[in-house]
Amino acid sequence: MLRVNNLKAAYGKVEALHGVSFHVERGEIVTLIGANGAGKSTTLKALMRLTPPESPTVTGGDIIFEGRSILGLEGHTVVDKLKMTLVPEGRHIFGNLTVMENLTLAAWTRRHESSKKDLEHIFDLFPRLAERARQRSDTLSGGEQQMLAVGRALMTKCAVLLLDEPSMGLAPLIMYDMFRTLKQLNSEGLTIIVVEQNAKLALQVADRGYVLNTGEVVAEGTGEDLLQRPEIKSAYLGG
Ligand SMILES: Nc1ncnc2c1ncn2[C@@H]1O[C@H](COP(=O)(O)OP(=O)(O)O)[C@@H](O)[C@H]1O
Ligand SMILES: [Mg+2]
Repeated sequence: MLRVNNLKAAYGKVEALHGVSFHVERGEIVTLIGANGAGKSTTLKALMRLTPPESPTVTGGDIIFEGRSILGLEGHTVVDKLKMTLVPEGRHIFGNLTVMENLTLAAWTRRHESSKKDLEHIFDLFPRLAERARQRSDTLSGGEQQMLAVGRALMTKCAVLLLDEPSMGLAPLIMYDMFRTLKQLNSEGLTIIVVEQNAKLALQVADRGYVLNTGEVVAEGTGEDLLQRPEIKSAYLGG
């Protein structure tokens, strides 16, 4: 479905991706793991066709979605037409709005289409959001804010969900819950690309993974395979 070929990307004159290649099939969970600064967020921003200065300029290679290059597309087209949605690092929810307002606002791309069913589904997945529907979002816990960020992404009716470090700052139990929910969404048909510094957790749920190191893919394999490899264990899984 998605094929990234020898992608190079830069911030100004500084190249951050030096030729990254990977692919994602429909229905998969694929993870990109790697240390801080490896280029994980840069890769997601390039996929979403986000623009400078916060996002990189693609300087080489290609991103192919269902057989066609998407390098010429703008970010909103990627969301509207390709049905790809990013849950960015740091969540970026509207703190001064309630949970419900954040969710309904996210359905703007769909205009007249009813979003009631999707709201119900999101509240089924995350009952805590239902309990807190009228609460201001900046009063939620970190875990609840991450649930809201994912819920908001789902309101766009995306087919491909990209997540940037969803486990960041969460207590272990909340992290496991979040990944269990991602697995459930995947079993319902959602394709997932998840970027993580918590490599162990990500590889446990992913079908396949790629290891990024300073702008390059240095290893790839099934989640299980990567979890077993001694060099991955020592470098990324805490020995
Ligand atoms: N907005 C930016 N401007 C300039 N350089 C950036 C910017 N964002 C990231 N970088 C640089 O690009 C490289 C990759 O960063 P990033 O993709 O954020 O890594 P990761 O998400 O894996 O931690 C790093 O060297 C980082 O300093
Ligand atoms: Mg990052």
